[in-house]
Amino acid sequence: MGIGEHLDTWDGWQAAVQALAWQADLGVTDPIGDTPLDRYDLPPEPAQKATVPPPMVQAPATLPHTGADPVAAAQSIADAAPTLDALRAALGAYDHCELKRGARNLVFADGNPAARVLILGEAPGRDEDREGRPFVGRAGQLLDAMFAAIGLARTSPVPATALYITNVLPWRPPENRDPTPAEIAMLRPFVLRHITLADPDLIVVMGNTPLSCLFGEKGILRARGHWRETLGRPVLPMTHPAYLLRTPEAKREAWADLLSLQARLRA
Ligand code: URA
Repeated sequence: MGIGEHLDTWDGWQAAVQALAWQADLGVTDPIGDTPLDRYDLPPEPAQKATVPPPMVQAPATLPHTGADPVAAAQSIADAAPTLDALRAALGAYDHCELKRGARNLVFADGNPAARVLILGEAPGRDEDREGRPFVGRAGQLLDAMFAAIGLARTSPVPATALYITNVLPWRPPENRDPTPAEIAMLRPFVLRHITLADPDLIVVMGNTPLSCLFGEKGILRARGHWRETLGRPVLPMTHPAYLLRTPEAKREAWADLLSLQARLRA
């Protein structure tokens, strides 16, 4: 089947997304059609040609889910999950978010669910999508190093020194674009239930997406370092490790935030 065929069916759409992802992984940069094209016959290109955008595949107009309100559906199945395993299964069965169809894996969480500290990130990137675990790429390596500096690790079996890590979005957005407000809204009930079930003492939100998910606002650079509260627990907003990789001078503030977290844990 050609990539562009049968996009009006569920299976066709899924096959097309997987085929495109596979080709992108192989390094394909130019889409071609089924009909041969004689490029010698084309009119001359303008001198300053804009970069060809990656091929976009539009979702079929009718999606194979019930048509119920996505936020209400998320709320009822998230609230009904009695355990973290049940919540993971509920997310896996949730069909209202289009991101799921382009993702290889559901990225639910990593670390120790009994940890005192829960880290809430934004969304999986390419490495996380491949592995099915949050924060395993470059940003994740920096995150591990940052928290190791105050004695916390996702691999620790001891709740006092452990981390539990999850994201607002469990599926990778295409091209790592920012999550839309609609995506954040429909995944929010799962995030709130996730926090309630993990029951951490403290929450760290990293970046604008979790700030917006929990507090309905953006502006992480203003918010960072200032403790606030939600679901009855203290929350520390911090800049995202991907931002710190791009902006090394912001690491000084991130270090101050880590020390503030350490002081709270000791208090
Ligand atoms: N960035 C995030 O916010 N989460 C991940 O899992 C990876 C990168």
